Amino acid sequence: MNKGQLLYEGKAKRLYTTEDTEILFVEYKDSATAFNGEKKAEIAGKGNLNNQITTLLFEKLQANGIESHFVKRLSANEQLVRKVEIIPIEVVTRNIAAGSLAKRLGLDEGTPLKRPIVEFYYKDDALGDPIITTEHIDVLNIATPIEVEQLYNAALHVNEVLRPIFTAVGVTLVDFKLEFGRDKDGNILLADEISPDTCRLWDSTTKQKLDKDVFRRDLGNLTEVYEIILQKLGGN
Ligand code: C5P
Repeated sequence: MNKGQLLYEGKAKRLYTTEDTEILFVEYKDSATAFNGEKKAEIAGKGNLNNQITTLLFEKLQANGIESHFVKRLSANEQLVRKVEIIPIEVVTRNIAAGSLAKRLGLDEGTPLKRPIVEFYYKDDALGDPIITTEHIDVLNIATPIEVEQLYNAALHVNEVLRPIFTAVGVTLVDFKLEFGRDKDGNILLADEISPDTCRLWDSTTKQKLDKDVFRRDLGNLTEVYEIILQKLGGN
């Protein structure tokens, strides 16, 4: 499958057409961004690591009955995915208070939540991705109530599958963001990526941060900790 026209360039990936109208070519970039693009850096090797980690996680989800847009990894930085129309909602699932939840609710970072919670954010850079309610989603007409329920259930299902996978290798899945799209028949499909860019992952023993907070908060070398996650998941 060959790389065709550039369709879209985001902060971390480029999407290209292929000769198959239902398949897109994804190129993972070495760019790191945080705080809605205010902080930026080029980090050699990051695209390769996220491509590999996303591949492993989508494969593990598939083995557990959760389909996604992922088709196959082609090379260090490239993969093929099924074409979907991305729903502009970031679906965040949290097991432990951290980041914006800790701030918003005045909880100490690291406070376990009595149950996993799911939040929705409006994917809109100009607005800074605000948190939204199901009623906001309804009036914005970005997803139907049935679709919202599907997103909610899918997020909890992904959490149920990924959490023990990480626990087994000594990593705590603190929280993560998912994106979904609609395929040509209107079916909802898990899309985008699942990587240390989109998850908070802490070493279960030392509590060391093994995710993008290393970049956000200047805590050390990003590729070193992404490499730890890749190796723990069985990559090389
Ligand atoms: O910043 P916040 O605490 O809301 O982030 C929750 C989770 O969602 C974190 O794992 C973060 O990496 C992820 N996230 C993301 N992309 C965003 C916002 C948050 O991947 N635009």
